[in-house]
Amino acid sequence: MHFSRIGISKLCFLLSLAFCAFLLLLIPSLQPTRWRSKLPQPQPQPRSRTIGGRGGASGRRQYHSVVLHLPLRNPRMGNTTGVLADGTQTAKGAAAPASSLAVGGAVTTGKHNTPLPLNIGAPQAGLPGSPPREQLELTDIFIAVKTTKKYHKSRLELLFQTWISQAKEQTFIFTDGEDKELRRKAGENMINTNCSATHTRQALCCKMSVEYDKFIESQKKWFCHMDDDNYVILPSLLKLLSSYSHTQDVYLGRPSLDHPIEAAERVKGDGSVSVKFWFATGGAGFCISRGLALKMSPWASLGNFISTAEKIRLPDDCTVGYIIEALLEVSMTHSLLFHSHLENLRRLPSDSVLRQVTLSYGGYENGRNVVSIGGAFSLAEDPSRFKTVHCHLYPQTGWCPAKKHP
Ligand SMILES: *[C@@H]1O[C@H](CO)[C@@H](O)[C@H](O)[C@H]1NC(C)=O
Repeated sequence: MHFSRIGISKLCFLLSLAFCAFLLLLIPSLQPTRWRSKLPQPQPQPRSRTIGGRGGASGRRQYHSVVLHLPLRNPRMGNTTGVLADGTQTAKGAAAPASSLAVGGAVTTGKHNTPLPLNIGAPQAGLPGSPPREQLELTDIFIAVKTTKKYHKSRLELLFQTWISQAKEQTFIFTDGEDKELRRKAGENMINTNCSATHTRQALCCKMSVEYDKFIESQKKWFCHMDDDNYVILPSLLKLLSSYSHTQDVYLGRPSLDHPIEAAERVKGDGSVSVKFWFATGGAGFCISRGLALKMSPWASLGNFISTAEKIRLPDDCTVGYIIEALLEVSMTHSLLFHSHLENLRRLPSDSVLRQVTLSYGGYENGRNVVSIGGAFSLAEDPSRFKTVHCHLYPQTGWCPAKKHP
């Protein structure tokens, strides 16, 4: 009786060993799912290699040159995805974390080549019907607005008048020159990066580097980078980020291309290697969780961002994608709720405009590229449409026309 009980527990132990061995065998077969994406792609391709190892900024490899096979910014991109503009309804619209699984291929943690079946890149909490993971406040978000002295008046004034007025404490202006008027408005939240005012890769990366350091210092939960021609729809941003946890690895933004960028880097001694990665277009704004931002530190903090960008010779937003996707092997979550002036903004359905996370405007020269939304102001009064959007969101604002009585 007693003896047979021992026999049974021995049998159980052996069975569980066999089960574990079976699970271990399953793990390698999960690897190829990494690049299986529903976006149009020539071929699903496994990641070619790991770059830089775990050794930090001073990896052994020397990057001599990077040959880009693809255009960095393709103005047509916004029109070629064929995805509903509100980004929420289609399988490709990765705005909802659930569908990001399909788009971003975020089925693995991607960290150190050890896909774990249960720990997926996108939050389980974001699946439809499940409650938000954390109570996020607007003050938990660090919003960096990148600008240059030339645009303090023409672009930033509009932002201060509109969305920044609703998020003054957590919005930081990263610029390249002193300005008494801007200092008066923004106070300590205006940061003179002392970076060059040119639009070169070095100057842009210099600003991104200061943004990163200030975010780390801030202790806030999310880092969101915006351009000075973005309108940030704060309630949408809060809602989107609330469905993720800031302690997870989250990199959210709009892909600049409909395929990962491919860069061939020449490596000292042994020819060249191809690196493929997605990146979020900076002009549409993007967000990074604190958990992920901390892991970027060896390549991004205290000026390392500039040397990383120099090694691969890519602009600031591509370099962010390179660090996250190629070096840290974390998949970007694709969201079509972010918008830049590179896409055709008129294609956004009017009734979806207020549900987006960022908007933009551009092309005053050859026909305006602005969102179509009617309301408080005419095109002549509000060429960017930002004031009109703002009055829809915050009708109590002093300068918004009083609501007409029906
Ligand atoms: C820019 O230079 C000023 C004056 O030297 C300095 O006070 C400030 O801290 C510098 N900004 C940054 C971001 O280093």
